[in-house]
Amino acid sequence: MHILFIGDIFGRPGRTIVRERLNELVKQHNIDLVIANGENAAAGFGITPALAEEFFELGIEVITTGNHIWDKREIIDYFQSANGNPYSPARRLLRPANYPAGMPGQGYYEGKTRAGVPYAVINLQGRVFMTSNDDPFRVADQLLQQIKAKVILVDIHAEATSEKISMGWYLDGRVSVVLGTHTHIPTADEHILPNGTAYITDVGMTGPYDSVIGVKKELVINRFLTNMPARFEAASGEVKLCAVVIDCDQATGKASSIQRVMLK
Ligand SMILES: [Fe+2]
Ligand SMILES: [Fe+2]
Repeated sequence: MHILFIGDIFGRPGRTIVRERLNELVKQHNIDLVIANGENAAAGFGITPALAEEFFELGIEVITTGNHIWDKREIIDYFQSANGNPYSPARRLLRPANYPAGMPGQGYYEGKTRAGVPYAVINLQGRVFMTSNDDPFRVADQLLQQIKAKVILVDIHAEATSEKISMGWYLDGRVSVVLGTHTHIPTADEHILPNGTAYITDVGMTGPYDSVIGVKKELVINRFLTNMPARFEAASGEVKLCAVVIDCDQATGKASSIQRVMLK
């Protein structure tokens, strides 16, 4: 089966290119399952319930996130609206699984594709140069003990390349794909690990690249020059859609290929 994972969708430019190009990508690559990181969907900072539902309507089955998940406070009520109902669309929006116990939302999802193939998505966040959360490695171990699906996708939302690569090796043979998000710059290291797990350090951002990781570049440069607080605004130019297509065996979950996609 073919899985499309779209990297951090940033603001209106990111949402627009996804809306315009997703159908063509799905057809071209014969995609069975679409997953996206949506932590920057709302002008770069967080995601609103309306934007999450817009993604679901476009055919994105599960939305992963990361450190920006709480930027829009209404997302807390949205998470709570699922209220234990596994069929609530809100259940398909994830926050990292290794956040402190008792936080709103869930960090993994188990479902079936339209063709009836069971799959799972795990969302984790790194700890290097980021807020110290629970250990993402041991949280992955715990989740894998309870997940029944063979096809398993892991989004490791992390700053440090070493932490993401370690997660890839750690989960090799136990999940179908480990992919990195958060740094917003695609890396050229996509490959299949020895035990059948597809891996890439960063899928890259889906949004404006005439920017500093999505934000108007003047504002970020000025922050570096002055250390003064400034309100960050989403940039708009040179929009790209960055994603990967993973081919994996639906019976064993083993991946056979991972391919980078970049649309302008
Ligand atoms: Fe991001
Ligand atoms: Fe992030």
